[in-house]
Amino acid sequence: MAALGMFDTANLNGGQKLAVKYFTVSLALFGAQVLFGMLAGIQYLHPDFLYGILDFSVNRTLHLNAMVVWLLFGFMGGVYWILEDEAKHPVVALWLGNLIFWIFTLAVVAVVLVFLLVQVGPAEMKSIWFINEGREYLEAPRWADIGIVVSVLSFFFNVAATFAKGKYTGIGGVLVIDLLALFGLYLAGMFYTPNVSIDQFWWWWVIHLWVEATWEVLVGGIMAYMLMTTLGVSRKIVETWLYIEVALMFGSGILGLGHHYFWIGTPQYWLTIGGFFSALEPVPLVAMVVHAVYDSGVHKLKNSNHPALAWTIAQAAGNFFGAGVWGFMHTLPQINMYTHGTQWTASHGHLAFFGAYACAVISFFYIAAQKSRGNVWMSSGMVGAWRWKWAMTFLWVGMVGMTMSLLIAGYEQSQIERAVEGSTWMAYFTAQAHPWFVQGMNWRLISGWVFSAGFVLLAWDLLTIGKRETRPAAQIHEQATASA
Ligand code: HEM
Ligand code: HEM
Ligand SMILES: [Fe+2]
Repeated sequence: MAALGMFDTANLNGGQKLAVKYFTVSLALFGAQVLFGMLAGIQYLHPDFLYGILDFSVNRTLHLNAMVVWLLFGFMGGVYWILEDEAKHPVVALWLGNLIFWIFTLAVVAVVLVFLLVQVGPAEMKSIWFINEGREYLEAPRWADIGIVVSVLSFFFNVAATFAKGKYTGIGGVLVIDLLALFGLYLAGMFYTPNVSIDQFWWWWVIHLWVEATWEVLVGGIMAYMLMTTLGVSRKIVETWLYIEVALMFGSGILGLGHHYFWIGTPQYWLTIGGFFSALEPVPLVAMVVHAVYDSGVHKLKNSNHPALAWTIAQAAGNFFGAGVWGFMHTLPQINMYTHGTQWTASHGHLAFFGAYACAVISFFYIAAQKSRGNVWMSSGMVGAWRWKWAMTFLWVGMVGMTMSLLIAGYEQSQIERAVEGSTWMAYFTAQAHPWFVQGMNWRLISGWVFSAGFVLLAWDLLTIGKRETRPAAQIHEQATASA
């Protein structure tokens, strides 16, 4: 083991070394997401800004795809981080993991360059294959789609084979089945049909079933490990909770898909199915909060990594509010008729993605930072603790500020555009020009600056945390990860 405080990957097992690579790219893409989000936010208020050079549509595409990819990289890193510990076996094909990492990273760079430099193409198949597929969140061109499927498939193979060679834990079983669903669903969003309703029907299989089923389950699995390692919760308790959460998530999330089928030309029964099942979706999220708070309470918050535990608890709360409460607000068709596609949706989208997924990945960043610096002390009285605390404060204040500004703008839109003026074309512009809307956009941007400051602090902290620390980590870990 290398000296305390020194950055040295010799401290890590094979899977963890690979995880650090994924985390590094993930953090860089998080930065890209913030940058393009800010540019898009400025364009809301000053449409001329970068007009013809880097249009809103391009910035938005980059903002969203950077998000999807940094979270995916973060999850893949998270799984590789826990894999050898859980399976009690080295990653079976580490070389493949490394190869895929480089191919995936280079493909992302190529796609970003094409988005930035080529931007658009003529309306023909060639553009779908090489420039932009035109499906929101999944704009990556077709060649990259195939690359993503191959990457995720070989990732699935590595994880499944490692557990098979070592031993399957409860967390391991849940992860393997989930990864199969994760890459399988991606295929649904890939085939081309000129009928927009049919296209959207399948596209939601990726978007909704990813974020409200497979991603939730994946995060449930890796966060369960997090609670064991930082708090020392017993495996039996963590895995029991995990099974309940997973059952509830699949139970409500699969048919909850219907809340995106209200207005796209699907049969009317989706109003009832979607309204009912999606209204149940917050239930597993409540279970996750109870789980995290219960575990933390039983262990009197005594833990080996303060920032990681803080982000874990923030994840449970953020998931509950962003996805559960903000999602529930507009999920009944009677309400969604007024709120559909307004800033209300963007308000929910921001808090949910940040709360449920960004927070989970950030807590893993801290776990990785701790161990790659020789497993240093990261509990109370840590040197330079102000930095993670302020980073977290700025990020959360910025995110809550954006969420609230967008919500107010969304209320104004549903009131004026939909309820008062009856959803006409003119009504849309009246609502967009209303002072409450414009003020909302201003506050979003101000909050965006706060968020950006938080990001800079976070990146600085992750690169330096533990550097001047001389104590070894608090001992909680060993007894916890032993099988029950
Ligand atoms: C972590 C989990 C979740 C994430 C990341 C998430 C994210 C999003 C995003 C980004 C959109 C906008 C999609 C678009 O571009 O049209 C959306 C839409 C929506 N979400 Fe979620 N969501 C989550 C969970 C939930 C839950 C649990 C509910 C319900 C209880 C919900 C209800 C909705 C509804 C009704 C819409 C459609 C809004 C509209 O009609 O414009 N979401 N979600
Ligand atoms: C500085 C911080 C940020 C700013 C200024 C910002 C700004 C924006 C803007 C202007 C849009 C386009 C909205 C539209 O098309 O009407 C957008 C969309 C979106 N952003 Fe951000 N964003 C920021 C951070 C984030 C973060 C951290 C996340 C999640 C981790 C996120 C997730 C999303 C999502 C899911 C959408 C699509 C929403 C929808 O389709 O309804 N953003 N953002
Ligand atoms: Fe959904």
